[in-house]
Amino acid sequence: MYPTRFMSPEFSRQIFEQLYTEFLPIYGENEAKSLTFLLLEHFLGLSKTDIVFNKKVEQVFDYQNVIERIKNQEPVQYVIGETEFYGRKFKVTPDTLIPRPETEELVHSVVSGVKNEGKKPERLKILDIGTGSGCIAISLACELPQAEVYAYDISGNALKIAQENANRNQVNVKFEQRDILQFSEINPAEKFDIIVSNPPYVMDSEAKEMHKNVLDFEPHLALFVPDDNALIFYEAIVNFAVNHLKTRGLCIVEINQQLGLETAALFWNKGFSHTEVIKDLSGKDRFVRGIM
Ligand SMILES: C[S@@+](CC[C@H](N)C(=O)[O-])C[C@H]1O[C@@H](n2cnc3c(N)ncnc32)[C@H](O)[C@@H]1O
Repeated sequence: MYPTRFMSPEFSRQIFEQLYTEFLPIYGENEAKSLTFLLLEHFLGLSKTDIVFNKKVEQVFDYQNVIERIKNQEPVQYVIGETEFYGRKFKVTPDTLIPRPETEELVHSVVSGVKNEGKKPERLKILDIGTGSGCIAISLACELPQAEVYAYDISGNALKIAQENANRNQVNVKFEQRDILQFSEINPAEKFDIIVSNPPYVMDSEAKEMHKNVLDFEPHLALFVPDDNALIFYEAIVNFAVNHLKTRGLCIVEINQQLGLETAALFWNKGFSHTEVIKDLSGKDRFVRGIM
């Protein structure tokens, strides 16, 4: 008998059943179903309707390999090599964090703030610190097409993916490899209207509560900070922002839900006005913003 992947042509329901049955014991009904739909759409271009009507499939794909990776709890976004963020597709690899829905709220807050305050987007200079896949910077560049958008990350590999994502979404973002913890190297004359960041904020001690799919596959450089220095990135960002924000400039960051007040205190202590902790859609302290 041939290995499964060489059996072709096949009927879509048969393939659906095969993947679903493999995923069910690990993921449960709903997730097994949605993973299977997503994989069949990505690799075979099959819609749910195609599967319901049991469309014949001529194409082959190595679904044994895909089954193994998903059963090993690798995030499906890495298996298909992309994800959706703020309505656009982004390439993701194990060098980039998979963008989270909370971060879409961060983007939305910046976009709606600019539009509601009637700021002139053509004059705006925006910086995203710790850009990863580039999801924040690129979404802002798409939504505010006249703004000049810059993005820093310490990881050269992440920056390569971010540049691909900018090309894919047809926007210009100026990516630079920078270590925000060494901000004194950055040109003091460079001033921004908006500084936005989703830096690493998961405390090492929180790792034990995290799922295998995050711990074993996502870049630890993007996630973790030591418990005894959990605000290290926020201190660096706030110090950077004090020197690099224009008057009335905005600094907004995504935060660890347990450290809302502590993070806001860094902003207050450095003289930011209108500092506030903002909750996400699940009601958790998730963002801090302040005006310089
Ligand atoms: C939580 S991830 C955020 C990625 C992306 N902005 C997002 O929201 O999905 C944090 C990012 O900070 C970057 N990073 C870690 N240490 C850094 C440093 N010292 N300087 C600059 N970037 C750093 C990581 O490479 C990672 O891409």
